[in-house]
Amino acid sequence: MFDIERFIADCRTALQEHSSHSAVKEIVERAMAHPDEVERALGMPERAEISTLHRSAELTVLNVIWAPGMSIYPHDHRMWAVIGIYGGREDNTFYRRSAHGLAQAGGKHLETRDTILLGETVIHAVTNPLRRFTGAIHVYGGDFFAVPRSEFDPVTFEERPYDVEKARELFRKANEGLWARSVEG
Ligand SMILES: [Fe+2]
Repeated sequence: MFDIERFIADCRTALQEHSSHSAVKEIVERAMAHPDEVERALGMPERAEISTLHRSAELTVLNVIWAPGMSIYPHDHRMWAVIGIYGGREDNTFYRRSAHGLAQAGGKHLETRDTILLGETVIHAVTNPLRRFTGAIHVYGGDFFAVPRSEFDPVTFEERPYDVEKARELFRKANEGLWARSVEG
């Protein structure tokens, strides 16, 4: 049975390993092999949110719930990240820096049970293409909320400092949109 405290303890132990990101990826893969257990432990997604399950200088574990159709603009992390999907789908678009700002550099569709390891320099944008919530565990090799990093305007690709509050606002707005649609019937 998936237990979030044990999952976090296992990730913390994995940080001692030489290739800590690979060790964490194996832990996330094992958890995502039983996505229904993860959903049972974290609760059925009912609203868009970023909820912090663990935060320290070396490790952040988030439960990220994407509303139907919701997207986030390109951003980087400046630390490795392991993402595991326990329900729904995350469509990733990757970018690289170029002489003219950002250039698209492929993509990856993540479905339920999928995990991915993103390197420190990865820049990505994420969309939930489904008409249902997507639930994912995101594990980062550092303090996700404290390390300065970048976000990019989705149209002009202008680079600016990542604003955590703006990201939270995006999730709040997604919930307001869901509520408005439910009232419209
Ligand atoms: Fe990200």
